[in-house]
Amino acid sequence: MRILVIGAGGLVGKAAAAALGMRHEVIEASRSGAVAVDLADPETIPPMFESVGAVDAIVSCTGTVPFKPLAELSLGDFRSGFEDKVLGQVALVQLGVDYVRDGGSFTLTSGILAREPILTGAAASLTNGALESFVMAAAAELPRGLRINAVSPTVLEDATGYHDYFPGFSRVSSESLGQAYVKSVEGVQTGQTYAVD
Ligand SMILES: NC(=O)c1ccc[n+]([C@@H]2O[C@H](COP(=O)([O-])OP(=O)(O)OC[C@H]3O[C@@H](n4cnc5c(N)ncnc54)[C@H](OP(=O)(O)O)[C@@H]3O)[C@@H](O)[C@H]2O)c1
Repeated sequence: MRILVIGAGGLVGKAAAAALGMRHEVIEASRSGAVAVDLADPETIPPMFESVGAVDAIVSCTGTVPFKPLAELSLGDFRSGFEDKVLGQVALVQLGVDYVRDGGSFTLTSGILAREPILTGAAASLTNGALESFVMAAAAELPRGLRINAVSPTVLEDATGYHDYFPGFSRVSSESLGQAYVKSVEGVQTGQTYAVD
């Protein structure tokens, strides 16, 4: 398969790209990558697809959300997280449909905060929950046998900077996380959220 991975240079994206790259061609894209795209700026998405051409799968491992105590989270903070992580990935799906071959797939990235809270995580929980609901609903309307799933990881073993914010949470290895992306891309399910924890 030919697979476009957005955010392949990040902690999650590296895990996805390494696992998928064992059997498939992986094309990496990000704001600073050779294939450039900024999901927070949807106007950059069509030029990316024009340069990459048709693919069998699109995997997104991006999304920046503010972490602050609830009392300090402004509506602007919620909005920025929603626009970056949710609408960025939604735009990727809507603009990407015509570039994914029949029977292909989208895999988005949400996170454990959709189902378990941490202090300072309200905006992240909101975005992750919204993405997982979007995936459930979009699956019913995608044409040509296209599938869509979300991967929803707990904190990575390698994400040491986050560990103090996730006390007592299980941590996942990059190898285990990568397999969730393989399951989504090579499997048959759609509308699913694959919890990895
Ligand atoms: N790390 C974890 O333990 C963990 C756990 C659960 C969920 N998640 C979720 O997984 C996602 C990725 O997290 P991460 O820890 O891997 O982040 P990261 O290490 O900061 O990597 C983010 C990657 O995405 C690219 N990127 C960022 N913003 C982008 C944009 N607007 N458009 C295109 N590419 C963009 C970055 O490259 P450029 O700078 O070149 O754009 C980078 O390659 C986030 O949604 C996060 O909430 C992470």
